[in-house]
Amino acid sequence: MIVPRAGRQHESHRYAIPFDLHPRLTASGWRFIDDIIWKKPDAAAKPRNSGFNVHRQPMTYKANAVTEYVMVYRKRSHRLIDSNLRQYDRGTRAASRVPDGYEPTNVWELDPAHDRVHSAVFPASLCERVIQYYSMIGDLVLDPFAGSGTLGVAAQHLNRDFLLLEINTQYIQRIQQRLGLGARATRTEDWRNDGYAQ
Ligand SMILES: C[S@@+](CC[C@H](N)C(=O)[O-])C[C@H]1O[C@@H](n2cnc3c(N)ncnc32)[C@H](O)[C@@H]1O
Repeated sequence: MIVPRAGRQHESHRYAIPFDLHPRLTASGWRFIDDIIWKKPDAAAKPRNSGFNVHRQPMTYKANAVTEYVMVYRKRSHRLIDSNLRQYDRGTRAASRVPDGYEPTNVWELDPAHDRVHSAVFPASLCERVIQYYSMIGDLVLDPFAGSGTLGVAAQHLNRDFLLLEINTQYIQRIQQRLGLGARATRTEDWRNDGYAQ
């Protein structure tokens, strides 16, 4: 995340959210699976080096960020992956099979998407790939930073259950709208009061 500068006397800086969260997630029962690099077209980057372009002083260099991390975790299991797969019936395994033309590397070049309410959304194709490559039909997928709910829309489309967490009420409303949900999606405080956080 780029934190813009507060004024002319300040500097912008990048906050490395995935690196901060990773040790917390692995310490609380999540197993790290993959880091996907979402590569956007160069033109999609917010320019950060206009000053550097003029005077070319090394320490003033700031890269225009054209990538984002998509960090994939799974609930830790003592079983090997084959044994986990055998839990699913033959029909589910066949229907969950990833079609030809899948991306074999962890660099996914995809155009950015836009939303009328949220300013930083994932493209639908990115969420669809993550779900198709890392989960089976009927699984539960979790997005702890749901934004406008793109992962939920993809999960609905691909017959997975989903759990979305979002701190901003305005975005929760957008999620409800996109998913056609009513009162089931609630603010974090309401959810806590319901006793689900125990
Ligand atoms: C980059 S956006 C995610 C966009 C999403 N992938 C989409 O396609 O719409 C990150 C979201 O995380 C939310 N967020 C930040 N801190 C949070 C927290 N502690 N708990 C839940 N959501 C949080 C922000 O409000 C923001 O909407």
